[in-house]
Amino acid sequence: MKTSRLSGFYKLSAEQRLETVRDFAGLTDEEVKVLGNTGALGETADRMIENVVGAMPLPLGIAVNFRINGRDCLIPMAIEEPSVVAAASNAAKKARASESREGRGESGGFQASSTEPVMIGQIQLSDVPDPFSARFTLLANKHRILELANEKDPVLVRLGGGAKDLEVRVVEDDKSNKQTLVVHLLVNVKDAMGANAVNTMAEAVAPLVEQLTGGKANLRIISNLATHRLAFARAVFGKEAVGGEEVVDGIVNAYFFAKADPYRCATHNKGIMNGVDAVLLATGNDFRAVEAGAHAYACLTGKYLPLTRWEKNRDRDLVGTIELPLAVGVVGGATSVHPTAKVNRKILGVKTANELAEVLAAVGLAQNFAALHALATEGIQRGHMSLHARNVAIAAGATGEKIDRVVAVLVQEGAVRVDRAKEVLKEIG
Ligand code: MEV
Repeated sequence: MKTSRLSGFYKLSAEQRLETVRDFAGLTDEEVKVLGNTGALGETADRMIENVVGAMPLPLGIAVNFRINGRDCLIPMAIEEPSVVAAASNAAKKARASESREGRGESGGFQASSTEPVMIGQIQLSDVPDPFSARFTLLANKHRILELANEKDPVLVRLGGGAKDLEVRVVEDDKSNKQTLVVHLLVNVKDAMGANAVNTMAEAVAPLVEQLTGGKANLRIISNLATHRLAFARAVFGKEAVGGEEVVDGIVNAYFFAKADPYRCATHNKGIMNGVDAVLLATGNDFRAVEAGAHAYACLTGKYLPLTRWEKNRDRDLVGTIELPLAVGVVGGATSVHPTAKVNRKILGVKTANELAEVLAAVGLAQNFAALHALATEGIQRGHMSLHARNVAIAAGATGEKIDRVVAVLVQEGAVRVDRAKEVLKEIG
């Protein structure tokens, strides 16, 4: 009987763990080699997470043509999905081509901005006898609480960051009539994603908060709904670059569809996150945190809405805007230890978390434009399929120049399936 109860697995070396997995799963020598290849990560992999046996590489592509706030940049994107990098590059080309028209004072490309990098640390307090009055007590003691929090991170404070403000909410559950007092510690985390600093501070102030309110502190943790850490981007796509006014109308229509229908909206926002996540992965950032924040922000009004908006300006050109929380870092965690992430940050030319957030917002907007443009015109499948066909051809066993030959037939026939690819391979010999 095979068992997954592997006591002391974590104490083994990566090689020993890999041997254990080999025995368990009956891996071949070739498969063990594939798994154990940590590439540029080398032994760092073993220090990043637990129970490491290898690494899982993703293709890294560079999206071109981006101009953000007047600066040209190359965008490293790590993603398994074909078409995303090409689509972003294409959208960025159209945005920069839509050079400013008279009097508008725009430089072409994307204009992006961001708020201060302020994260929320939550402290949940139960059993507070008089939560509304306790709220006032906490606000009156704000400076004491902030001071205590800041004692935990003098380095951050020296850099100009640290706990800056306090919000106190009474969250009421209508069914049970129970009230929870929720303290938000607002921390400027500068160039880090901030979870460590914020969690440490939330834990540190909890006893004082308990003492001031008479309540019991339960959860003390960062909120990924980073409403104080937003990034914004905007781009004008001239109607000529878009393919005419009809296409502009089609894209605006697609936006209204997403706004009206959560089923469409999920896909609309997924397209945005295709670009955002790929850059997050390439820079070693926590894409789950950003995903959680983005989708929660999308339904902050109680209705799930698109993160972008599309409208026509007075010249009847297309204008896109995006607004989303972006808790990202350029220091700390994987951003500081992953060798590829460090190189990618250099390629991007970003020095601060704010600059990175602004790039991410621009990429999200570009990605959404590309998807809506395809959907409003020829549909998504033609562009998708030729790239997808490559994967299918390779999966069917094609190598070298045969890949392109198989792809050509599959795309021409509109039958991008492995069974057909295998037949074509046989036919061409
Ligand atoms: C595919 O990964 C993303 C799209 O479905 C996004 C969209 O429909 O807007 C093309």
